[in-house]
Amino acid sequence: MKKETIYVTGGAGFVGSNLCEKLLLLKYKVVALDNFKTGRKFFLKKCLQNSNFQIKKLDLKNKKKLISAIKPNSVIFHLSANADLQFGIDNRLIDIKENIQVTHNILEACIKKKIKKIIFSSTGSVYGEANLYPTPENYKYPIQTSLYANSKNCCEGMITTYSKYFNLNYTIFRFVSVLGQKYTHGHVKDFCKKLIKNKKEIKIFGNGKQKKSYIHVDDCVNALILSIKNKKFDKEIFNLGTEDWITVNQSLNLICKILKLKPKVIREEKKRSGWPGDNPKILLSTNKIKKLGWKTKKNIKESIKDTVEYLISNPFLLK
Ligand SMILES: NC(=O)c1ccc[n+]([C@@H]2O[C@H](COP(=O)([O-])OP(=O)(O)OC[C@H]3O[C@@H](n4cnc5c(N)ncnc54)[C@H](O)[C@@H]3O)[C@@H](O)[C@H]2O)c1
Repeated sequence: MKKETIYVTGGAGFVGSNLCEKLLLLKYKVVALDNFKTGRKFFLKKCLQNSNFQIKKLDLKNKKKLISAIKPNSVIFHLSANADLQFGIDNRLIDIKENIQVTHNILEACIKKKIKKIIFSSTGSVYGEANLYPTPENYKYPIQTSLYANSKNCCEGMITTYSKYFNLNYTIFRFVSVLGQKYTHGHVKDFCKKLIKNKKEIKIFGNGKQKKSYIHVDDCVNALILSIKNKKFDKEIFNLGTEDWITVNQSLNLICKILKLKPKVIREEKKRSGWPGDNPKILLSTNKIKKLGWKTKKNIKESIKDTVEYLISNPFLLK
C-alpha cells in the first residue's frame, strides 16, 4: 500500500498512541480521533512535534461528525473502546455504546468514504473460559463471560458482515492483555498503586493462581502494522500474545522484586477468578500470525519490568 492517510480511533490511548508514534516513524500521515475519555494528550507529546500528525477531538458516537472527519480512500485502525472489562457489570450500556455503537458508526463511515481497510482491536476474552490452551482462532466459543467480550464479538461479526455486503477489507486482532510504555489499566497498575500506598500489605483479587499471557505493546503495534503491508492479512482474524503465561502470584512477586518490597499478601483463597468476567486462564495460539513472519521481541517478565519502570517514572499515572 502507498502512504495514504491513516486514521487511528482511540489514538490518544495506550495502544493507540504507541501505534501513532510507530506509523509516523514509518512516514505515514496519521490522524488520531479521540474524545480523551481515557486517552491523554501527554501520550501524544512526540506525535504532536511531527507535521504529519493531527489529533481531532471527537466523540465517535456522533456518526455525522465522525463521517465528516474522515477523508475518502484512507485506512482506519479502530482502537477506541471501553477497554476495561470490569466496568460492564455495573454500567451495562457502556460496552453497547462505546464498542458496538461506535464500531457500527465506523463501519458506516467505511462505506460512505470508501475506506480501503479497517483494522480492529478485539480481545482474547472472546474465548470466554476455553477448554483448550493455547486457544486457536478457530476454537468454538464457549459461554461468554463478560459484556465487554460480548461486544467485541458483536463488532467482529459486524465487520465480517459489512465485508460480505460491501467487500470491505479488514484484519481483526484478538489481543491478550497488553503491557509497556503508556500503560494505563490492568493488574500491573493496580498492584503498583496499592504498593505505593501501603508498602507492607497488599490485597489481591482471587486466589492468585489465575494464569495468563501478556504481550508487549511494541510487539502488538508491529503486528498491527504488518496488516497494512502484507496482503495475507486481508480478511483474516489473528490472535496476538506471547507463548508463555504467568500466574497473578508470580507477577506480583516480580513487581515486588522490582519495587524492592516484601509485603504481606492477602488473597481471596476460595475465588479462582478476580471479578465477574475475569477468565482464570488465557493463553492464545499465535501459530497463524507467526507463519506470516511476526514474532515477539519481549517476554512477559521483560514486559512487566518495562511497565513498572514506566509507571514509576510517570507517577501521576498511578493517581
Ligand atoms: N490494553 C489491553 O490490554 C487490551 C487487550 C485486548 C484488547 N484491547 C483493545 O485494544 C484497544 C485499545 O485499548 P487501550 O488499552 O489502548 O485502551 P485505552 O482506554 O487506553 O484507549 C482507548 C481510547 O479510545 C478513546 N475513546 C473511548 N471512547 C471513545 C469515543 N466514544 N470517541 C472517541 N474516543 C474514544 C479513549 O479516550 C482512549 O484514548 C481497545 O479496543 C481495547 O478493547 C486492549
